[in-house]
Amino acid sequence: MKKRILVTGGTGFIGSHTTVELQEAGYDVVIVDNLSNSSADVVDGIEAITGQRPAFEKVDCTDYAALEAVFKKYAPIEGIIHFAASKAVGESVLQPLKYYYNNTVSTINLLRLMPENGVKAFIFSSSCTVYGQPDPENLPVTEEAPRKKAESPYGNTKKIDEDIITDFCHSGAPVSAILLRYFNPIGAHPSALIGEMPNGVPNNLIPYLTQTAIGIRECLSVFGNDYNTPDGSCIRDYIYVVDLAKAHVAAMERLIGGKNQEAVEVFNIGTGHGVSVLELIHTFEKCTGVKLNYKIAGRRAGDIEKVWGNVDKANNIMGWHAVHTLEESLSSAWNWQKKLRERGIM
Ligand code: WQD
Repeated sequence: MKKRILVTGGTGFIGSHTTVELQEAGYDVVIVDNLSNSSADVVDGIEAITGQRPAFEKVDCTDYAALEAVFKKYAPIEGIIHFAASKAVGESVLQPLKYYYNNTVSTINLLRLMPENGVKAFIFSSSCTVYGQPDPENLPVTEEAPRKKAESPYGNTKKIDEDIITDFCHSGAPVSAILLRYFNPIGAHPSALIGEMPNGVPNNLIPYLTQTAIGIRECLSVFGNDYNTPDGSCIRDYIYVVDLAKAHVAAMERLIGGKNQEAVEVFNIGTGHGVSVLELIHTFEKCTGVKLNYKIAGRRAGDIEKVWGNVDKANNIMGWHAVHTLEESLSSAWNWQKKLRERGIM
């Protein structure tokens, strides 16, 4: 019988790509999602790619009773990958209680339900945002770098969730966890059947960029070119979403196989390379042949100047590597945007 994995937030951007990779690695997947920031159509896209329709339960992870019913209905569950969270940095500043409630209560509910249902493996979707702005001597940033004061309630919920998970696993609970700290996930599945679907005006760079390239947005604003970087624009570590999805499969296999060395392990998941906003724009233009309309604007509040990951631990201990180039990632994002236009979606 196939091992079953529960994926919360599985109709979201990273969750859907991870569901595809889990199914292709031979796992059975149950998606739990409240559809607050995604559509049930994504389940059709996953099925179109893999030929396997994941089970789908429209449940809010803050609803303990509804979540408990899912655990009972789909027992035995081998492991959980927890993506479900509110994740808009700007919104979190305006609605902190929504973020603190949703992002922590959902995690606590899942952890509470694991021991009594025999679920032992927990993978958490964390973020490089816990590092804040690493000190220059700490770049590329390793997992041992100090976590810094979060720039937003969203970032703070990631730190709080990491602490909740760690303290629970160290309390003697029969649960082991891996915290995956992502850098900047970008791109779309090569089939262009699933991809990033932000609601409304995108906050993140890549969807705003591709929507500008296709004419939905007038002009991309580059938020600042007066930073202490080679071309003045901010530097990030942009990782292809399919490589990131495969990291979750590797992490789950590590826990299920009992290969983890500690009850809680932390891995940076990125490419290990920093790319500036302007470099990314020029790379997009070169690999797609599309001239992008952009302008230099003022800095965005809360942005950090530069961060990219040291990913030696994921490479050497978990045996996972990012294998796609920035060009391939950006081309996949552009193909996805064109497919959305072809299908009349945007
Ligand atoms: C990247 C760079 C912007 C938009 C955030 C969260 C992180 C994760 C990903 C959820 C920055 C610049 C952006 C635009 C721009 N969140 N930019 N014009 O802020 O690095 O990370 O999203 O999973 O936890 O912190 O990502 O894509 O918003 O910005 O110039 O219209 O692009 O200033 O330098 P960010 P981003």
